[in-house]
Amino acid sequence: MRINCAYLKLAGKNISKYNLDGGDNMDDRFPKNILWGGAFAANQIEGAWNIDGRGPSIMDVVLLPEHYKKTSVLGYSHTSESMERALKDKDGFYPRRHGINFYDNYESDLELIAGMGIQCLRTSISWSRIFPTGFEEEPNESGLKFYDNLIDKLISLSIEPIITISHYDMPLAISKELNGFESRETISHFEHYAKTIIARYAKKVKYWIVFNQVNLLENWGEYCSLGLKEGYSNQTVYQAIHHQFVASAKVSKFVKDNHPSLAVGTMLGDDTSYANTCKPEDVYATTQRNQIEQYFFSDVLLRGEYPGYIKRYFKDKGIILEHTDHDLNLIKENTADFLAISYYFTSTTSHSEKGYKKVENPYLEHNEWGWSLDPIGLRNSLNHYWDRYQLPIFVAENGFGAKDEVVDGQIKDKYRIDFFEKNIKSVLEAIQDGVHVFGYALWSPIDIISASQGEMTKRYGLIYVDLDNEGKGTGERITKDSYYWYKKTIAENDDKLSK
Ligand code: BG6
Repeated sequence: MRINCAYLKLAGKNISKYNLDGGDNMDDRFPKNILWGGAFAANQIEGAWNIDGRGPSIMDVVLLPEHYKKTSVLGYSHTSESMERALKDKDGFYPRRHGINFYDNYESDLELIAGMGIQCLRTSISWSRIFPTGFEEEPNESGLKFYDNLIDKLISLSIEPIITISHYDMPLAISKELNGFESRETISHFEHYAKTIIARYAKKVKYWIVFNQVNLLENWGEYCSLGLKEGYSNQTVYQAIHHQFVASAKVSKFVKDNHPSLAVGTMLGDDTSYANTCKPEDVYATTQRNQIEQYFFSDVLLRGEYPGYIKRYFKDKGIILEHTDHDLNLIKENTADFLAISYYFTSTTSHSEKGYKKVENPYLEHNEWGWSLDPIGLRNSLNHYWDRYQLPIFVAENGFGAKDEVVDGQIKDKYRIDFFEKNIKSVLEAIQDGVHVFGYALWSPIDIISASQGEMTKRYGLIYVDLDNEGKGTGERITKDSYYWYKKTIAENDDKLSK
């Protein structure tokens, strides 16, 4: 039975004919039926790292893990001096600098990708292609030209472009000279970059995600997302996060004031943790873990306030944030319009003397890199977020990394198909639970360089790229079995959802 409540007001949005059996439209900026698509990021595909005026970015100096130990250049931990050294290093293995050479192949790659019938594609813009050091006043026109062409190509293929403004791609100079987001000054350079691209593409790109996985920090995001150099303290990390919150609010304000038909998203790397046992200590430790590592970020950016639990955490840890009343008002008045999540795995938490710790989940299998496989977790997370925020949700990444084998020119990736079948089923279940999921982008339509591993051999694509970790290979693109499976799935699900 469908029950319509006319003009319900929820989370500050006017909703006409909100159906209590779920899956209805919240806001006319968001489609009624799910947008099926794919996602990748500039730093993992483009290559052309020093072409057409692009400046070096933080990811260009991150080596393959197996080469860290052979040099004094460390993985995700850099000083200004080691960044300089890495830049001059011509012999080291920096696969990210070359990606899959999408820069030169974007037209044919997008045509092949479009063959699956996808309706949206999420990619990012490389900040240092537009502002090579991050400090310039005038943007690099050749860099913009690349994205003009890419976005036009997507539109010509009837694919909705979804743009991440910052996906692990800060100009190296901002990290080296300002220690990334530790400095307040970085907010204004980021704001200038974000406004430049939003204004340029406002008529073509409706959905914008400000920071990729704003919450994922441990041993990783401090450098890749915040741009912090080696030797940061907890205090520095939270100060930098505060500056990212202010930067996000400024982007939302700019869009609201100048381009109200666009939508701005906040993105979490989802890993909603389960309690290891029903012992109350474990259950509460899990609540705290999810608050501190996950909800804190979306609570600030979607609800507009620093929640009580984090204020208490700061007090307990002696963290004092430098902020102004203006920052807090800006954050309060300029929350994001939707939540984007990436989903790969879940974790499990138990109580420990220090508060909480991560433990193995004996009920789940893992992939070769130890990532748990848990399709039900996706339905669980979607329901939790919907309950908490009542805002439209975009599944901005969901994928399975594996070592593929080419046999007689074919890639029979049944394991990947199984993964996606189960995860997509979970998304459809969540939609039936009433969660408003407006898009699903699998990671990734084509092989990319893995972010954490920096290698090619952890493959995610539905299209194979003949390149190895050291950039050797023909670069040929070969469609995998999963490519044909996704094409069929999109067609069938569209049919189902439109009934
Ligand atoms: C997400 C990132 O966390 O996970 C992507 O946004 C990344 O950039 C993806 O590629 C998969 O992780 P990885 O490390 O296996 O590439």
